[in-house]
Amino acid sequence: MDSQHGPSLSRSLRYSYEQYKATADWLLAHTNRRPSIAIICGSGLGGLADTLKDQVVFKYCDVPNFPQSTVSGHAGRLVFGSLNGKMCVCMQGRFHFYEGHPVWKTTFPIRVFHLMGVDTLIVTNASGGLNEDFKVGDIMLIKDHINLPGFAGINPLVGPNDDRFGERFPCMSDAYDKELRKLAIDVSRDLGYWNNMREGVYCALAGPSYETIAESRMLRMLGADAVGMSTTHEVIAARHCKLRVFGLSLVTNKVVMDYESEERANHEEVLQTGKRSAELLEKLLTHIVGRMDCNSNMF
Ligand code: HPA
Repeated sequence: MDSQHGPSLSRSLRYSYEQYKATADWLLAHTNRRPSIAIICGSGLGGLADTLKDQVVFKYCDVPNFPQSTVSGHAGRLVFGSLNGKMCVCMQGRFHFYEGHPVWKTTFPIRVFHLMGVDTLIVTNASGGLNEDFKVGDIMLIKDHINLPGFAGINPLVGPNDDRFGERFPCMSDAYDKELRKLAIDVSRDLGYWNNMREGVYCALAGPSYETIAESRMLRMLGADAVGMSTTHEVIAARHCKLRVFGLSLVTNKVVMDYESEERANHEEVLQTGKRSAELLEKLLTHIVGRMDCNSNMF
């Protein structure tokens, strides 16, 4: 049902199917690349996109209907190219709720990728470690998530459902693909990275303020291993349209859980750690993508 404002206003506050389609068609018309994998590069992790071969690049501001990224560490470019033999499209910079974008806007690219023929979404992000065993620089395979904003009604699927994308009540108990997680474990063992790898639950907050100590302790009690300000909405939109999802989270700082601690979370630390550990994450992802089974067309 539409809101109290009636169908036309409520619909005008969201993208129409035709807008998603127009953007997908525009991109398909402006490049001969046909990716089967989309990769969202998190804070400080955009370097992966630079490693793609035979690149075709679009600035978000040049793509019809695309939102604009405002965060430092997020370049705001779509990069098409091949990664270890698989045709990919990378988002160098994502959209966050805390920038002032409504969540249905932050997930716009996901449906565009779906309409372009992408079948797998890889999400990466920077996070704070809540699990006491996690070290700065660890890479967490995302096994599951807690979409805390969803508890307050902030979910990209709120509003009229468009059956052309997916069903009204999509399942989320299998959001992060088991086979791809198993592949990632195999690859990290083969590369000798297993000591830096973890598996756990990612919790998203709306941000932009970092957590208080009481909030951090609560998140840990709820079963979260790492906390950040992104990803879950993209994953919800992706699972709605049946994309296969794989996620990696780079632990850039340990969340302060102790009132005696002098440590303070800050964005600079997040970016610096991102830089140091980005190479490891990029190498891991490159190998995982190389071993993924998908219907990749090189062009
Ligand atoms: N909290 C929330 N988001 C984050 C953090 C954190 O500690 N680190 C990186 N992103």
